[in-house]
Amino acid sequence: ADKAPSAAEAKSETAQRVKIGIYFATWWALNVVFNIYNKKVLNVYPFPWLTSTLSLACGSLMMLVSWATRIAEPPKIDLEFWKVLFPVAVAHTIGHVAATVSMSKVAVSFTHIIKSGEPAFSVLVSRFLLGENFPPAVYLSLLPIIGGCGLAALTELNFNMTGFMGAMISNLAFVFRNIFSKKGMKGTSVSGMNYYACLSMLSLLILTPFAIAVEGPHLWAAGWKEAVSLVGPQFIWWVAAQSIFYHLYNQVSYMSLDQISPLTFSIGNTMKRISVIVSSIIIFHTPVQPINALGAAIAILGTFLYSQAKA
Ligand code: 3PG
Repeated sequence: ADKAPSAAEAKSETAQRVKIGIYFATWWALNVVFNIYNKKVLNVYPFPWLTSTLSLACGSLMMLVSWATRIAEPPKIDLEFWKVLFPVAVAHTIGHVAATVSMSKVAVSFTHIIKSGEPAFSVLVSRFLLGENFPPAVYLSLLPIIGGCGLAALTELNFNMTGFMGAMISNLAFVFRNIFSKKGMKGTSVSGMNYYACLSMLSLLILTPFAIAVEGPHLWAAGWKEAVSLVGPQFIWWVAAQSIFYHLYNQVSYMSLDQISPLTFSIGNTMKRISVIVSSIIIFHTPVQPINALGAAIAILGTFLYSQAKA
């Protein structure tokens, strides 16, 4: 028979909610700072393959130091763990570099408007590749998501095909990353924080040769000189900030993924995008037409309808 929750149960549920609330607020705040420094760097130093690599390198280093000094307990993992992690890391690498390439070509707000369409990709992948079925309301909620993103893209003042495609590829890659990683995390005793640390390290190994092939040290060095002459010696701190905050926001998001369902996670992620879109428009004085903002609002509303339909 159903029992009314005891006072102790109700208290622990409240504590859990407060904890998730703190995770979410921290995740969004760190993400806003990352997005701002990332774009400041890309504006004067348009090498997204390198900045993506540096973000992963910085996170890997931070975690290796944390393990060595026992600030964080190192995970107990075997070869099998790395094998299961490999497809997650491939998807994470593609999604990360594609989003950064996108942001190097278009406004941060535009990349994130397109990225708010991620649930649509999630449903299409689950339906057509995994054979999952959803109630009709879920499919209906895709209409405003796709329509809103489409309207925002068509009316974007600084539309750029590479910027658009980068955000779309990132959506697709992150759907796979989330499916694989939730599965992978289930089977291990590795914490969300350590799971993300290993993911960064493996992604770094995958990305580095490609970054060298696509951009390479010659361009990086010449571009660096130019960026320092434009910004001054503090340019290095911008690069450090984008790298450190990239790791921190992802670490916190994986720590919360540990505690919540993928659905709650994707709602949190959409709310994160609203804070990034609004703050980047203010900080970078991004021009927006009313019809463009309407497209973004419809897409985001669609994401909320989607989460309701899925719940
Ligand atoms: C990246 O560089 O990985 C993207 O900015 C991340 O996008 P997210 O907001 O989906 O984490």
